Amino acid sequence: MKKLAAVLTLISIVWIAGIWISCAEEPAAGDPEAIDAKVRQFMQNHRGSWYDMNVPEADGRALHDIILEKEYKDALEIGTSTGYSTIWIAWALSKTGGKVITVEIDKYRYEQALAHFREAGLEKYIDARLGDAHEIVPALEGPFDFVFCDADKDWYNNYLSATIDKLKVGGCFAAHNVSDGSQWGFGGRGGRRGGFGGRGSGFFEFAKGFSNLDTSILDVSGSAGMSVSYKKAEK
Ligand SMILES: C[S@@+](CC[C@H](N)C(=O)[O-])C[C@H]1O[C@@H](n2cnc3c(N)ncnc32)[C@H](O)[C@@H]1O
Repeated sequence: MKKLAAVLTLISIVWIAGIWISCAEEPAAGDPEAIDAKVRQFMQNHRGSWYDMNVPEADGRALHDIILEKEYKDALEIGTSTGYSTIWIAWALSKTGGKVITVEIDKYRYEQALAHFREAGLEKYIDARLGDAHEIVPALEGPFDFVFCDADKDWYNNYLSATIDKLKVGGCFAAHNVSDGSQWGFGGRGGRRGGFGGRGSGFFEFAKGFSNLDTSILDVSGSAGMSVSYKKAEK
């Protein structure tokens, strides 16, 4: 009987210690400094290891800074890959109190992204969806104040068309690997080269065609070419 009591006590101690350790690892809800420290550590641990068509660091930081500056809360990302840009976006949203829906069609990358979100301690700011953005994006209700488009480049015009009415006035539609045609293709400033809707894909011109959008190319050193379209009016 004594033996059983001792075993039960031991189990209880191990169980309580387990809960205590897991709580200690998780940043407390609404503790921005703890979240910051965990994400910084994550970024440091993974520096130089983003090979799955992920954005350059300069572009990730730019996404983060836009969200913080404009205090955006309702974000959508099209093209998660392994989650690097999502982490920059969600890091900013952890400070504004927002959340991002991110869509990825490739199961292996999606699962890697989920592991990254957990490791960075940002999973509660991210609603990751596995599936075809051609179907998922038009079906989303919105509204959004920030959209980051970084999936199949030949579908960018459709993604903009599918989200523009769900974008709040003052909101931003950012698109990756976009050139204004004044430079040869993109990736020219340190990013991915070739095949990504550069000259001739027409996305920049397409976005420019919306009179309620103010569209320009973000001037960021080390960028792979990112356009930003700010919504000025409903129509
Ligand atoms: C350039 S990568 C995204 C990189 C990511 N934004 C980052 O910086 O970490 C593009 C991703 O879009 C995904 N993709 C392409 N077409 C898609 C579609 N129709 N629906 C959902 N995801 C798609 C690809 O599988 C790929 O992982």
